[in-house]
Amino acid sequence: MIDAKTDVYCIFGNPVEHSKSPLIHNACFKHYGINAAYLAFKIDSIKAGTDALSNLNIKGASVTIPFKEKIIKLLDEVSEDAKAMGAVNTVLNKDDKLYGYNTDCMAAISPLKPLGIQGKNVAIIGAGGAAQAVAYGIQKEGGSLIIINRTVDKGERLASKFNGKFIGLNELERMNYLSADIIINTTSIGMHPDIEYSPIPSRFLNSSMIVMDVVYTPMNTRLLKEADQKGCTTIDGLSMFLHQGAAQFKIWTGISPDIEIMRQAILSGEK
Ligand code: ATR
Repeated sequence: MIDAKTDVYCIFGNPVEHSKSPLIHNACFKHYGINAAYLAFKIDSIKAGTDALSNLNIKGASVTIPFKEKIIKLLDEVSEDAKAMGAVNTVLNKDDKLYGYNTDCMAAISPLKPLGIQGKNVAIIGAGGAAQAVAYGIQKEGGSLIIINRTVDKGERLASKFNGKFIGLNELERMNYLSADIIINTTSIGMHPDIEYSPIPSRFLNSSMIVMDVVYTPMNTRLLKEADQKGCTTIDGLSMFLHQGAAQFKIWTGISPDIEIMRQAILSGEK
């Protein structure tokens, strides 16, 4: 029941209408008997978001496109990991201070770790906040990075930050072979409603590759369908989404939630 004591949590993004974060967090608040509500706020400037956190005593926030990098300078303290990545996806408002964390990195790396990252060539498509988090995690685990991006200077900057190689999307169009063991899409290409697109032509995929997509709407993206047809090992975006959300819930409440409650909330919300 929502009453005068209800704590508010939220997500800041633009666009944000398609976010499934309200579904997973509200389901967990209900399951664990916590008097809190989680809302989605589409905002134009992240300063409006951090001001709202402080002025309205909103207890915590998820941060998504396009604010993960911009929010850093508006926070009181940022974890060492998030600082090194240059991206924050989680804010905790505690004792009148705003603390920034990043739960994307751990969530992206955990399904890859058992398959082996050390010594592998890992191609990351994209160079935004999600790419920064994934690149940081891959480097920490001993993988070599190849950054593939549409905008050259942004891609080159990320590649040089993590000692990786850079390939522009235009240049890739002219190539026939990509020397990669793992390919990770961190862009929104293939996301609903543009589900007919894939970030990379299927000629680059082969059966020895692991292909991961951070897009989870739809879960079976064109990239993953084509990877599957070529015999690649595939990892969909839902696993990363659920794990980053579970780690956020733990930061806010101290409770490690059951991932299945979150998965069920998404599946029943889609009916
Ligand atoms: P996030 O913080 O969630 O990673 P972002 O910072 O907006 O989001 O980054 C999105 C990434 O997806 C960017 O690398 C972007 O490429 P540009 O650097 O060229 O902007 C990439 N991206 C998004 N839509 C794309 C599209 N239609 N074609 C190619 N790249 C795209």
